Amino acid sequence: MMTVSGPAAHMALFALMTTTVIASAQAQDQDPGPLPTHVVDIASKLPLSKPIPTQSSPRVEKLLKKMTLEEKVGQLTQAAGGRSKTLNSKLTPAELDRVRAGRAGSYLHVAGAEPLRELQRVAVEESRLKIPLLFAMDVVHGYRTIFPVPIAISASWDPNDWERTARVSAEEASNSGLHWTFAPMVDIARDPRWGRVVEGAGEDAYLGSIMAAAQVQGYQGQSLSGAGTMMATTKHFGAYGAPLGGRDYGSAEISDRALHEIYLPPFYAAMKAGTGSYMTAFNDVGGQPTTGNADLINGVLRAKWGFDGMLVSDWNAVAELINHGVAASRADAGALAVSAGVDMDMMSLVYADDLTKAVMINPNLVQHVDNAVRNVLTAKERLGLFDNPMAYHDVDMERAEIRSADHIAQARLVAERSMVLLKNDKAALPLTSGAETIAVIGAMATDKQSQLGSWRARGDKTEVVTILEGIKAGAPKGTTIRFAPGAAPQSADESGIAAAVATVQSSDVVLLVIGEDYDLSGEARSRSSLALPQSQKALADAIFAVGKPVIILLTGGRPLAIPDVAEKADAVLMTWLLGNEAGPAVANIIFGRSVPGGKLPIAFPRTTGAVPYSYGEYPAGRPAHPNPVKDSNRFKDLPITQLFPFGHGLSYSAVDITDLTISTPFIDPGDSIDFSVRLTNSGTRPSYETPQLYVRDVVSRQAQPKMMLRGFKRVLLQPGESRTVTFTLSADQLTYYNRDGKWRVEAGRFDVMIGASAEDIRQRGSFQLSRTVESNVPAAAIATQTEVR
Ligand code: BGC
Repeated sequence: MMTVSGPAAHMALFALMTTTVIASAQAQDQDPGPLPTHVVDIASKLPLSKPIPTQSSPRVEKLLKKMTLEEKVGQLTQAAGGRSKTLNSKLTPAELDRVRAGRAGSYLHVAGAEPLRELQRVAVEESRLKIPLLFAMDVVHGYRTIFPVPIAISASWDPNDWERTARVSAEEASNSGLHWTFAPMVDIARDPRWGRVVEGAGEDAYLGSIMAAAQVQGYQGQSLSGAGTMMATTKHFGAYGAPLGGRDYGSAEISDRALHEIYLPPFYAAMKAGTGSYMTAFNDVGGQPTTGNADLINGVLRAKWGFDGMLVSDWNAVAELINHGVAASRADAGALAVSAGVDMDMMSLVYADDLTKAVMINPNLVQHVDNAVRNVLTAKERLGLFDNPMAYHDVDMERAEIRSADHIAQARLVAERSMVLLKNDKAALPLTSGAETIAVIGAMATDKQSQLGSWRARGDKTEVVTILEGIKAGAPKGTTIRFAPGAAPQSADESGIAAAVATVQSSDVVLLVIGEDYDLSGEARSRSSLALPQSQKALADAIFAVGKPVIILLTGGRPLAIPDVAEKADAVLMTWLLGNEAGPAVANIIFGRSVPGGKLPIAFPRTTGAVPYSYGEYPAGRPAHPNPVKDSNRFKDLPITQLFPFGHGLSYSAVDITDLTISTPFIDPGDSIDFSVRLTNSGTRPSYETPQLYVRDVVSRQAQPKMMLRGFKRVLLQPGESRTVTFTLSADQLTYYNRDGKWRVEAGRFDVMIGASAEDIRQRGSFQLSRTVESNVPAAAIATQTEVR
């Protein structure tokens, strides 16, 4: 039996002696002294899962045969070329030597056609095997032209908006030397205390699946090696969106059914759309960190779903397997991750520094290492890097693409389409009569930085048009605009509120721009309260006390519990954080040049204690009853409805949803069924409506959700116009995840509900499924065909 010495083995010993202090020992760098051999062997005793070989080309196999073990782990290593705020800063001469020695496979936090050309040149000219490098960045909602934050784009309820955002991002980033983006983030979130709710598509598996696929298509286009495209990373595989209490990085304590029915469908939809890679989640599901979870990665993703691309860990997550308490040493962590199916190690350098030791302890690991190298080289091959490693480094193209007029116009359009009109009493919006004095109140109205949101790639705050600038430029002639900042979201200084009140006193109407800034949502930005920040609430209270009409322009990256200010306001427009073109987009909506049509991808609760929540829960034995005196599934101190439910969003006129027709009373396995409704704009302004199709399996031995979204379509209607929307559902969209791992559903009655939100159902009907249906595909990941006539 082999032994090993050095830091890895020291860590192994210490872990075994005092399992509870692994993390602190690491932090304090204690030296545990000489090592008895039985302790060191822990990595060799790991029960390793079987490797799942993926297909590769003769070119990749030939290369693999030539590689030393050091060169192999080099390919599996992703190092940082900088920090996210100081890109390229770590590309030192020493780093170039590392590339020459074949000890790096990929860099993140790098950018620029020219600097990356030089880095690539070193790899393909000066390293022994001349393998090109992969350059990656978090290009999440824009590269230099920044679009709204992801939750906002998903609020457009139109996958085309995501596709166009991803395409523009890829055009800019791929011409700036980047091959690979760490997007889309498809984690379903039902607890808005979780800060990363801003990065996803909200609470629903079906909506999330549609948006996931659209992003992959936008980034990757028709071919990974095509011009203007980049490889997508669907992240964070597992159930990162379900941490306990919404605390970032925490355990997901969810059932196997919830994992498969709620959290995994968007990952499956992304695979069907061709995602080139996945990233594992930081957290664990029921005690198994995904970065070391062979059942999920090799079992579900590769063996069951047939994914044949590449898988990268999250930042330092391989080393963090030690903190999770599932690995005894860095070598052990590396062995666990690579054998679970993690091909590339982002930034922990465990593969680079410790995997060779793990292979010495357990030579069987070599098959896993080879497989991982195969997947990395195949990704490079699919990106066209072996044939043309410099294709991404054309400085003229970079200049032409970055912030082109078309890209800016697209960013403005998506920003307009992302806003959600939550309330609009007595048609307070749009503001159409000129010659008014408008008070714009709130520090968020001039906050450029915040509009860029979380993950701004190369976004530049000086290129942001603020809400105030947009309103000033876009107000009808004769309007006077007065501004006072009042108070900023994270500031304790409320001394500006008095001046804001004075400004309001001499104005006709108030645009109150309040909410969260960019730094209150995002990674490691979970919050225990969903209330407005204190300064924003104080400002709002002071402004309402003046008694003028108030329109709230709400900012931020998550649902907020704002029952009292929403009650007092005449209108509430959720503006999220809208990117470069925030100002013009807001102005177009509030002055009526564009029409709001967004819908909430996640409910807004009445209070923090009401989360987590979803419209799609299982029915209770004592269903929630409006009368609090009855013993039912509700909070005694809250109404049973949400403040603003999932799917809610108004437009400038009311649109009727009528005349449900169902094509057949019975559906057989393999068949489909059509549901049609008529939409009529009964108002005087153009308007959007997004009819939403929900189904419910009425009786099943395993309870089924009260409602499941299975279709939606955003439609624009002119005043008086009618259109018919038809949703075509297939029988396998009705299945659920059974204990034996199959998607199945029994015969019986289904209810169908079509409405303007999960709490605003306008049409109801039912149909029968004639026989049991079986399928291999997560039901929520199947897109419903939709037709508008
Ligand atoms: C995040 C990932 C991101 C990575 C690289 C991590 O902290 O969780 O989503 O892709 O950093 O920037």
